[in-house]
Amino acid sequence: MPHETHTVKTSPSQINEEGLPVHIGIIMDGNGRWAKKRGLVRTQGHLEGLKTAKKIVKAASDLGVKYLTLYAFSTENWTRAKEEVGFIMSLIRQFLHSELDFSRQDQIRTRFAGDLSGLPPDIQKEIIGSITDTADFKGMQVVLAINYGGRDEILRAVKKFYSQNAGKSLNDLNEGDITAFLDNPDIPDPDLIIRSAGDCRISNFLLWESAYSELFISDRLWPDWDKADLLNAISDFQKRERRFGGIKTKKTASAPSEHDEKNY
Ligand code: FPP
Repeated sequence: MPHETHTVKTSPSQINEEGLPVHIGIIMDGNGRWAKKRGLVRTQGHLEGLKTAKKIVKAASDLGVKYLTLYAFSTENWTRAKEEVGFIMSLIRQFLHSELDFSRQDQIRTRFAGDLSGLPPDIQKEIIGSITDTADFKGMQVVLAINYGGRDEILRAVKKFYSQNAGKSLNDLNEGDITAFLDNPDIPDPDLIIRSAGDCRISNFLLWESAYSELFISDRLWPDWDKADLLNAISDFQKRERRFGGIKTKKTASAPSEHDEKNY
């Protein structure tokens, strides 16, 4: 797996627009380490991380990416110190509250993944407000994964399925049934999952949806990320050959079609 340790400058002209990943997921890691390196408190790292998130949303939207999922708060992040959790929640609140003008300008639509019911009521309200206010926007869709865990999403999907299909036998349950009850069944699986700050793990992010995602790990800490890092990740993605478990495709982001050459 490519593991970026330095920044290779990639310009937008080196990106093939037709081969853009349709859906990018990002594990925004390294805020704490970024702050520690500078002798700052961890929350300062999250503040910078939020600024970076805004920059990357804008860059991805300008490039023409259709879906961007940001892992902002996991179901496991509640175990952090109360002050840190409170600070991240206030950043999320601020982000949701202040972004409408920016969203309108670029027609960026807000989506959500996670267990909404487990979030503070005021954040739930902000999330629902942002989803409603941007529902007709036609630009990139930003999925905010908050109180999100991949295992939790799958479990909730199975429970939702059975609550609506009480009579269905377990033997009849298929993959499509689960997919249909995930948080955003209309959004295609991520083509590319990026993780900053060097750790090579998926950390409960989009477990079901990432079955055939390409992974890109960068050593750069999330607050240090800028458009050039996103371009590098996309450029690297465009060199990959995606086989989806045995079908050779062209180097594009799209899922395989019947016309692709078989390559077992
Ligand atoms: C991981 O860094 C980062 C988080 C758990 C929080 C990410 C949240 C934000 C950037 C703010 C909210 C963003 C949006 C888009 C609403 P870490 O603390 O695990 O870093 P470390 O591994 O270096 O300690």
